[in-house]
Amino acid sequence: MFLLACAPDPEPEPPLTEEQALDPVTCAGCHPDHYDQWQGSMHAYSSYDPVFIALNAAGQEATGGALGTFCVDCHAPTAAQMELTADGLDIDSLPASVRGIGCTYCHTVDRVGDMFNNGLGHASDLVQRGSVSDPVPTAAHESAYSPLHDRTELQSSDLCGSCHDVVVPSGMQLERTWVEWNATQYATATSGIQQTCGNCHMDGYDGRAAISDGAPERRVHDHSFPAVDTALIEFPGREAQAEMIQERLDPTVLADLLVCASENGVEMRLRLENVAAGHSWPSGAAQHRRGWVEIAAYQGDTLLFESGNVPEGEAVLSGDTDELWWFGDRIFDADGNETHAAWDAVSYESNLLLGLDGQDYNHVTRTWYLGEAVPTRAEAIVHLRALDVDFLQWLVDRGHLDPGYLTAVPTWDLAASAVTWSDIIGRCPE
Ligand code: HEC
Ligand code: HEC
Ligand code: HEC
Ligand code: HEC
Ligand code: HEC
Repeated sequence: MFLLACAPDPEPEPPLTEEQALDPVTCAGCHPDHYDQWQGSMHAYSSYDPVFIALNAAGQEATGGALGTFCVDCHAPTAAQMELTADGLDIDSLPASVRGIGCTYCHTVDRVGDMFNNGLGHASDLVQRGSVSDPVPTAAHESAYSPLHDRTELQSSDLCGSCHDVVVPSGMQLERTWVEWNATQYATATSGIQQTCGNCHMDGYDGRAAISDGAPERRVHDHSFPAVDTALIEFPGREAQAEMIQERLDPTVLADLLVCASENGVEMRLRLENVAAGHSWPSGAAQHRRGWVEIAAYQGDTLLFESGNVPEGEAVLSGDTDELWWFGDRIFDADGNETHAAWDAVSYESNLLLGLDGQDYNHVTRTWYLGEAVPTRAEAIVHLRALDVDFLQWLVDRGHLDPGYLTAVPTWDLAASAVTWSDIIGRCPE
């Protein structure tokens, strides 16, 4: 402790009170990078999200309040835990400190119960748990190593997965990211390719875990958690978040395109594989996600065939879907009708690109039949919308969402899925 004695904190502060510890702003002074990354993340945004607010309101209205804290248990877990809200309808009146998935909410977890609907248990000691096994002491809080917070440990996926899997009141498993991951080789220690949620979603870099005196350079981990959602309101780091999302989506799906001849005439075959997501793609809120293929064939400049040319502002599944190759979930109520009301859902249909099962990627191929037409060029690309227009329109129609949001959700292009074919047509391989 000689080093520390030489360079003590200039003004030793008393330990943080519970109220201070729950407020992420308190952490920013000593953990500025973690705070900056977190404040632009969907974990900070989770109960500011106008779509969340609208869907929760629709659910409370439709169930006469029976939904209770179901939604805020994950989207504003500190507020729910402190019983500051009973239904999330008053979320805008709560202090910012309890609205997101805050630092202390994650860092005081000491056990995981159910692997769905937020089964996390918390210690009451305010000790900040992380993967640093030799933390420099600070007056602000005690620190401790925890395998639940160490991405090299398989069980660290349980900390994430307990919130990332949702079972709705009917018992249907609505969101399944952890279940999907758990079925891949990434979740098997002996596979040689073990990858936890943290391995893929919290990039490591060399920096300082705290800027306090005596805190050394270490391997630290990014807290921005980019994936597919962007803030639809003014929010810190919005542009940076969008860039990170594009960077991550770009290599996720690989494509291979072949035009060839068979006894069925000319065929256009597109093969896709999910080479980067450690679970299905899309995953999570797949009932809102819409991935799809845009594909076209030309003879010279003449368009012979196209599918998936979806205009901005139009829902992916709004037109004729016979020729459309799309990815996502659809959910159905007890009468078998498609719905957006998760609280009514009893069954789902799933159309996803599966993650690695076994040692190889899952390939899936779709064929379009062009008849006698002979293309000289064909091209394809995969797109994604995090939230599609039909779902947003459904919320607008119920009076819960401002129509201004109908055009607010971007359409992403996945770079590694962009393929062009131009060749002489040969026989199709078997
Ligand atoms: C007065 C400065 C200070 C404040 C305020 C502070 N911390 Fe820390 N924290 C530190 C220092 C110093 C370390 C150790 C860094 C190291 O050893 O590299 C640390 C380490 C940590 C660790 C890693 C623990 C481990 O063993 O892996 C976590 C997690 C953490 N802090 C969370 C928080 C949170 C959450 C807040 C806000 C509620 C907070 N800290 C507020 C100074 C502070
Ligand atoms: C307390 C519950 C909770 C815990 C614990 C949690 N998450 Fe989340 N996470 C959420 C919620 C809720 C959202 C969605 C917020 C929104 O978009 O409104 C989210 C969003 C995300 C996103 C962005 C998703 C998107 O579509 O853009 C990623 C990535 C993510 N979490 C990864 C993780 C990882 C990795 C861990 C573990 C280290 C973790 N989460 C732990 C609840 C949680
Ligand atoms: C969704 C859960 C979650 C939230 C929210 C969260 N963290 Fe972390 N944090 C983690 C996990 C998991 C690790 C460990 C990563 C690893 O080492 O594998 C970590 C690591 C850390 C560390 C240790 C150094 C490092 O980067 O590995 C510090 C310090 C820290 N977090 C501070 C914060 C602060 C400050 C906030 C809020 C501004 C915050 N965390 C919010 C999950 C979270
Ligand atoms: C092998 C790497 C890998 C592992 C392991 C992994 N992910 Fe992912 N995840 C990805 C990639 C790649 C994507 C797609 C690109 C993107 O959206 O950022 C993704 C997307 C996501 C999304 C957005 C899904 C959507 O379509 O709405 C969430 C949420 C998420 N992951 C959470 C998790 C959680 C929780 C775990 C652990 C149970 C996990 N991931 C494990 C790589 C991984
Ligand atoms: C078990 C925790 C959990 C529960 C319960 C839960 N969610 Fe979520 N929610 C998540 C996670 C995690 C994501 C992010 C998944 C992804 O990125 O694919 C998410 C994503 C969403 C999204 C899409 C993301 C966005 O930015 O708009 C909406 C909307 C949403 N939730 C609303 C709700 C509503 C309303 C309820 C209650 C009916 C609810 N959620 C219940 C964890 C939960």
